[in-house]
Amino acid sequence: MILKPKNVLSCLFLRPWLGVPFGIWIAVSVVYYWWLISRISVLETQNKVFKTQLRLSQSALRQMSIDSAGVVDSATTYKIPVIPDAVGTVCETIHVALVCMGKCMRLITPMLKSLLHHRQNPIHFHFIVDGSSQHITETLFDTWDLPDVKYTCYNAQNQLIQVRWVPNTHYSGIYALVKLLFPNILPSTLKQVIVLDSDLTFLFDIAELWAMFRNMTNDQFIGLVENESDWYYDGKKWPALGRGYNTGIMLLDLHKIRANVDWKYLWHDAVKSNLNHLKQTTLADQDVINAIIKKNPEFVYNISCQYNVQMSTKTLAKNCYGEDTNNIKVIHWNSPGKYNIRIRDADFFRNIHQSYVNFDGNLLKEKLHKCGQSEIVTYKMNHSDLCISFRAAQRVKLRTHIYYMDYTYTNIDNFDVTLVLQLSMDRLQFLERLVKYWEGPLSAAIYLSDCEVTKLESFIRDWSDTLSTRRNIGYHLVFKHDSVHYPVNYLRNVALDNVNTPYVFLMDADFVPMAGLYDHLRSAIKLINPYAQKKCLVVAAFETQRYRASPPRNKPALLARLSGGHSAGDVAPFRAREWPKGHRATNYTKWVTATAPYEVEWQSDYEPYLVVHRSVPKYDTRFSGFGWNKVSHSVELRAQGYRAVVLPDAFVVHTPHAPSPDITAFRANPHYRICLALLKQEFMDDLKRKYNVTFDEQTKQDSIYVGQAKSLILNQAKDSN
Ligand SMILES: *[C@@H]1O[C@H](CO)[C@@H](O)[C@H](O)[C@H]1NC(C)=O
Ligand SMILES: *[C@@H]1O[C@H](CO)[C@@H](O)[C@H](O)[C@H]1NC(C)=O
Ligand SMILES: *[C@@H]1O[C@H](CO)[C@@H](O)[C@H](O)[C@H]1NC(C)=O
Ligand SMILES: *[C@@H]1O[C@H](CO)[C@@H](O)[C@H](O)[C@H]1NC(C)=O
Ligand SMILES: *[C@@H]1O[C@H](CO)[C@@H](O)[C@H](O)[C@H]1NC(C)=O
Ligand SMILES: *[C@@H]1O[C@H](CO)[C@@H](O)[C@H](O)[C@H]1NC(C)=O
Repeated sequence: MILKPKNVLSCLFLRPWLGVPFGIWIAVSVVYYWWLISRISVLETQNKVFKTQLRLSQSALRQMSIDSAGVVDSATTYKIPVIPDAVGTVCETIHVALVCMGKCMRLITPMLKSLLHHRQNPIHFHFIVDGSSQHITETLFDTWDLPDVKYTCYNAQNQLIQVRWVPNTHYSGIYALVKLLFPNILPSTLKQVIVLDSDLTFLFDIAELWAMFRNMTNDQFIGLVENESDWYYDGKKWPALGRGYNTGIMLLDLHKIRANVDWKYLWHDAVKSNLNHLKQTTLADQDVINAIIKKNPEFVYNISCQYNVQMSTKTLAKNCYGEDTNNIKVIHWNSPGKYNIRIRDADFFRNIHQSYVNFDGNLLKEKLHKCGQSEIVTYKMNHSDLCISFRAAQRVKLRTHIYYMDYTYTNIDNFDVTLVLQLSMDRLQFLERLVKYWEGPLSAAIYLSDCEVTKLESFIRDWSDTLSTRRNIGYHLVFKHDSVHYPVNYLRNVALDNVNTPYVFLMDADFVPMAGLYDHLRSAIKLINPYAQKKCLVVAAFETQRYRASPPRNKPALLARLSGGHSAGDVAPFRAREWPKGHRATNYTKWVTATAPYEVEWQSDYEPYLVVHRSVPKYDTRFSGFGWNKVSHSVELRAQGYRAVVLPDAFVVHTPHAPSPDITAFRANPHYRICLALLKQEFMDDLKRKYNVTFDEQTKQDSIYVGQAKSLILNQAKDSN
């Protein structure tokens, strides 16, 4: 797999603020060059694979272009070389274990990318998790969809008690001590495992480490690299053999441990016998393991230092790799300052790390070879389907990293409501503005690429006073994949799925809420009790065409600026001219004078902004890009028998912005509109099957489009005959 120049370039040159882009470019080239040289033999095999794939996909493409003119379905099977799954081959599964509790996934992502980038073998990750990190881990791996990667989560929340008694001052707290529990937590069927810290960068294939298990003697069951600092030479430290060992990378032969020693006794004994005179561990698990080894040097297998080059300021890292950074296999960011190190070659190392922060995770989805006989990679496409681009967009799995930033909102009652929305990076300013007027919890799905993540973090932390102080915003990242359509409904579902209040307010990011809307909605929910009565609350939507004017903050101010009748105000019902059906059913005439909530009838194409219980149905992901994405949702609510109640004193105001690319596509492309009509018909048919209801949602124009679609398909069939 090769770093696509396109990705590197777009990361570098779109972000001049990163500073010294030229330096980074050089570093990336150096890494790339080094990587090329070091893997030349591997590349030779890989290149063959790539070439075969290329040839096959080219012939497949040719086949497609023939097929797309006909009504025949084409099934394209890529023939990837099969390699038997035996010890020592690239098909042997490598087991990797990590403690990932608390805010871990954000920290380990660059490491995972670097590890996966260099690997060839199938990998099985064993994550020791707690409740919240488990959900994040599962979502990420299920949506990343990496070939030959498995994962298992072990919830160790209840086992923390087994290490809590060990006094410890290490900065990673109690989580590091959990490493002592691996032999109990991991299943007895797991024989060997490589245990990793969260702060490593891999520059080589982890299979080299895995191969070392075979070189251990019968007594050796723990493989470690020496600590490169003189830490343990100081007499007041925990006992250690020589300089001691670093546990950032640890080969554990669980099978031998279980068979040969009483592990629990070993480490309890090591802790207790040293606590008398040492009071506490300062390096957590590492102190304990060093004490065990001091007593039993025969247990340890020495790994050479390139496999754990330690960046902490006092280390003698350069003694290990000398003058040649090409000798480095793994970088260990073990200084408390993490990536802000000040040692020789620091910039070089930091740039490698940064290149993995920016690395496009989708590149890792490529399959290199096939292990075992069981799986066949098949792609089935109906090339006579006019909506092929919509189908493709619906099928692709989008890597999703939920709760990327800290979210600590837990003070929730039965009336609480989360604002739910989705946005792309160019709408970040809207989010910031909106948050000023919404004090409550918020769930935002953000569509971006890997190299925009640093930008997002720095926008939230360093640029925005509003966002940096808030801990009740859930940021859920959805990573871009080549798709012509903006996956709007997938994004909405991600935001909707990840709320912890009973109610949600389904909104768009380009609106501004009236003052105090959050409290207002809470009171309305308390009063109306929508869940019990299967009601959803409509928040009236208005718009202003003026860029500069600040939107009205309360109802009297809004009414004073409302246009219509004789007054020429700058505020009007939302899309009253372009798309009146969208909000007409709210009955703005009535709203102006209303003082009590009133129920309205659903009408076709009605797409109000709603407050509803979070058990509401999900959005239909066959609609992506522009058109019917929100209406389909309210139609489903209607089919389920929800009633719509308009709140007389709540509103949001839309402010102008440039139209999205998908709207432009919609306006320009007749195919797009035909396809939308087809999808709509399909959706209504599904609805009918599901709920036994029919609504008159199909317009005359829709029937014309559907007719056109039929004749298009017929013509295609004729042409190909
Ligand atoms: C294992 O031992 C063999 C023979 O001594 C040696 O050739 C090989 O390099 C060793 N492998 C590793 C990973 O240390
Ligand atoms: C080794 O000692 C240093 C103290 O200088 C400490 O910071 C580090 O965590 C220890 N372990 C290492 C480098 O693995
Ligand atoms: C491993 O390294 C330590 C410390 O340098 C040394 O004392 C020990 O003898 C080595 N063990 C083996 C098996 O080489
Ligand atoms: C392929 O699409 C065409 C046109 O939409 C449809 O008539 C046909 O049934 C589809 N074939 C399959 C196998 O889904
Ligand atoms: C809107 O409300 C007004 C005043 O209550 C009522 O007369 C009118 O029929 C309503 N319009 C619709 C479309 O329901
Ligand atoms: C569907 O609804 C119709 C009337 O609305 C009813 O006659 C029919 O029995 C229903 N079918 C099912 C399967 O419930």
